[in-house]
Amino acid sequence: MVVKNICCIGAGYVGGPTCSVIAWKCPDIRVHVVDKSELRIKQWNSEKLPIYEPGLEDVVKECRGRNLFFSNDIEMAIKEADLIFISVNTPTKTYGIGKGRAADLKHIEMCARKIAEVAEGNKIVVEKSTVPVRAAESITHILSANTRPGVSFQVLSNPEFLAEGTAVENLLHPDRVLIGGEESVEGDEAVAQLTWIYNHWVPTEKIITTSTWSSELSKLASNAFLAQRVSSINAISALCEATGADVSQVAVAVGKDSRIGSKFLQASVGFGGSCFQKDLLNLVYIAECLNLPEVAMYWQQVTDMNEYQRTRFAKRIVECLFNTVTDKTLAVFGFAFKKNTGDTRESPAIYVCSHLLEESARLNIYDPKVECKQIEHDLTSAAVTSDPERVQQLINIYSDPYEAVKDAHAIVVLTEWDEFISYDYRKMLSVMKKPAFIFDGRKILDHEALIKIGFHTETIGKRFSRNTLLRASGGDIKMMH
Ligand code: NAI
Repeated sequence: MVVKNICCIGAGYVGGPTCSVIAWKCPDIRVHVVDKSELRIKQWNSEKLPIYEPGLEDVVKECRGRNLFFSNDIEMAIKEADLIFISVNTPTKTYGIGKGRAADLKHIEMCARKIAEVAEGNKIVVEKSTVPVRAAESITHILSANTRPGVSFQVLSNPEFLAEGTAVENLLHPDRVLIGGEESVEGDEAVAQLTWIYNHWVPTEKIITTSTWSSELSKLASNAFLAQRVSSINAISALCEATGADVSQVAVAVGKDSRIGSKFLQASVGFGGSCFQKDLLNLVYIAECLNLPEVAMYWQQVTDMNEYQRTRFAKRIVECLFNTVTDKTLAVFGFAFKKNTGDTRESPAIYVCSHLLEESARLNIYDPKVECKQIEHDLTSAAVTSDPERVQQLINIYSDPYEAVKDAHAIVVLTEWDEFISYDYRKMLSVMKKPAFIFDGRKILDHEALIKIGFHTETIGKRFSRNTLLRASGGDIKMMH
């Protein structure tokens, strides 16, 4: 069999960009992306795509209608496809056994049942969603228990390693592509088919093939290692603040060791996004279920440290603002969980803002990409507050950062958007309440310059000493402590 038709179930942050790039790089293959959400599909077929990713719009515009199609006709797409990607969401369970930790596989199971129900002929089913180890076994079980005569399935694991904000770049130039398959002749043949697709633009040496279980676990392990690096440097940042060391200097010194490496050593207000937290919790849950409590505790600590970092930052804001933010206005710069995306899932901004709202602060929020209604939704959801009306009264969403800082007591930077670096902070300071504070939760601003123009500046992993302040101000600054 040569793959001529691909179907992807799930038109989200993974399914959309991944299949757009496949369609772009494989003009000989028809790619059909389907979703149960009518709105999502309508947006994929419109001028304004449902997600923002640098470079994505150009790829979609070139392929859409040529060999890339978005629709809600899931059954038809399954029937036509030789290979089916499952890219549906696998959130943390919010009910029942494993609540708050295990991955909820209900969407995966629904896809498996739908495929079994309507498929004709031989299909390769590819698990692209992040799943617990041995999920492919469950999919195989459901498929084989419902298989009709003349139909056969091979299930592969092909986890996605793209990072939001750089999805197209990551898909075009992946560090590696991982394909896990059953160790059999049929399994090898299916792996070869998927390898052939990636080979359209990814060199063979970057394509790793493993057993299905190794592939599934590698994805969880990769995210756990990445999150662990962030929590490790954040733990050091707390030590820096207490001792007078500077976490940026420590990160450079540590990262120069080639065994450690310099990437992902940026201290911050904490990691966010839909994956790190959920995949860590999933790993913890799996370890617990396998009676490995020490392993579970080890990884649990990575997410506990992240929570500690967010709370610590919010508390420091309150502390610096003379121990009260009640009725004070704080301009919040950035709400997305990282720059170059409009995604707010598990964004540290949600946690820091909700802590400040608890303290009755008024928040003027600005983000270049996040929609106003998304911010309102995130801050008024039941998981965040029991009093959505009050939150609604305390927040104002702005489309101009210079408007957001008017009469504010402080600026709080929660996303590392590049544009925040080049703002005219002197102009902002002139319309703010004095003393004016700036809390840089992403360590992106020029702190000495801010101190020099008169901002009381706070950041992660560094305390500005009296000497720094005096040096930066030419000796005439008044310390607020
Ligand atoms: P998402 O929530 O953006 O998209 C999932 C889509 O699947 C939604 O549009 C939903 O309507 C659709 N869907 C759910 N059940 C369906 C069904 N039965 N039939 C048809 N459509 C259905 O999720 P996202 O972020 O794309 O993640 C998908 C998977 O990829 C998750 O397992 C995630 O852990 C993993 N992943 C996500 C990455 C990211 O950066 N977002 C990176 C790597 C992996």
